[in-house]
Amino acid sequence: MLKGVCTMDTRVDILDNNNLDKDVILRVANIIRDGGLVAFPTETVYGLGANALDSEAVKKIFIAKGRPQDNPLIVHIADFNELEALVENVPDIAKKLMESFWPGPMTLILEKKPIIPDGTSAGLKTIGIRMPSDIIAREIIRAAGVPIAGPSANISGKPSPTDVERCIEDLNGKIDYIIGGETSAVGLESTIIDCMVDPPCVLRPGGITLEMLRKIDEKIYIDKAIMEKPKDNLKPKAPGMKYRHYAPKAPVKIVNGELKKTIAKINEIVQNYIGEGKRVGIMATDETKDFYEDAIVISLGSREDLKTIGKNLFETLRCFDDKEVDVILTEAFDEVGFGVAIMNRLNKSAGFNIINV
Ligand code: TXA
Ligand code: MG
Repeated sequence: MLKGVCTMDTRVDILDNNNLDKDVILRVANIIRDGGLVAFPTETVYGLGANALDSEAVKKIFIAKGRPQDNPLIVHIADFNELEALVENVPDIAKKLMESFWPGPMTLILEKKPIIPDGTSAGLKTIGIRMPSDIIAREIIRAAGVPIAGPSANISGKPSPTDVERCIEDLNGKIDYIIGGETSAVGLESTIIDCMVDPPCVLRPGGITLEMLRKIDEKIYIDKAIMEKPKDNLKPKAPGMKYRHYAPKAPVKIVNGELKKTIAKINEIVQNYIGEGKRVGIMATDETKDFYEDAIVISLGSREDLKTIGKNLFETLRCFDDKEVDVILTEAFDEVGFGVAIMNRLNKSAGFNIINV
């Protein structure tokens, strides 16, 4: 067994954002400084943190998650003055983006300083940096006094956890401490922007939308490779985006088209599966949920409110696993605003299995 990977139940504490328990914060800060692993809330998804400057600690993240070694980690900071020690040659546009969207759900790819070990950056010369807005995350980083490397706190491949229960489900017994807080407000991982190219390029869409970014620089664009089925010659620049991801146990199929036709097609597919004796889950919306039959139907929220749809997406995928469905059918969403991030995660969870109607 590997040193430092525990086998007993992991200690869990739930914190109140309005009345943070300082003792708990200090305890987990010490664990981070001592090279341990702590899951904690952020406004995007829950993260699995370790001291980003400690290559042995970072190794344990990869083991606990079963994460491929070539997938670099995002480094989390709490305050602007921590940046200088970690990155160099920060372009003006990156500074503008930070001023506009930090703290918040945005990660910038910048040139790393040697202090960041290869284990954290997976050997790259660059590093993803993010300043979360979640108060618990920031207090833990501040108390630890070191930047925290933090991937999503799930077993690799599964949908990211947006509440403490899902962290416990994936990581109990594998890490040193789990901190709970509120359900993640955004529900999808941060927008990643490569600032090593000019104009900057979005490598992963998220809560900071392209429309918001273009108010800062109208030339910012989205890497084509991430919205399409992976091709051999078109590799996404964020190494993590090439893996099967956000995937529940059951296969996911997206039905895309006009809403009435989508409903009819989903009902038709359900009947085929029922004929084969299968349990079907449908990810519906408030506008459509009453039109489906003979399936387990969960609404993501109203189509008018993409924020709620995004916030509920990963949890709903995981709920279908709990209900042991054999297949999940989902409606599609328009790829504008936050809809780009929603469709990116849906496409990946479905392995780009799309039925157009
Ligand atoms: O919202 C988030 O970003 C969450 C929370 C916990 O902060 N974290 C998160 O980390 O989503 P993770 O490890 O699940 O996803 C990190 C993504 C991966 O796709 C990885 O390949 C990419 O960021 N990435 C990290 N460093 C990079 C770099 N230097 N260049 C390109 N992509 C990078
Ligand atoms: Mg992840």
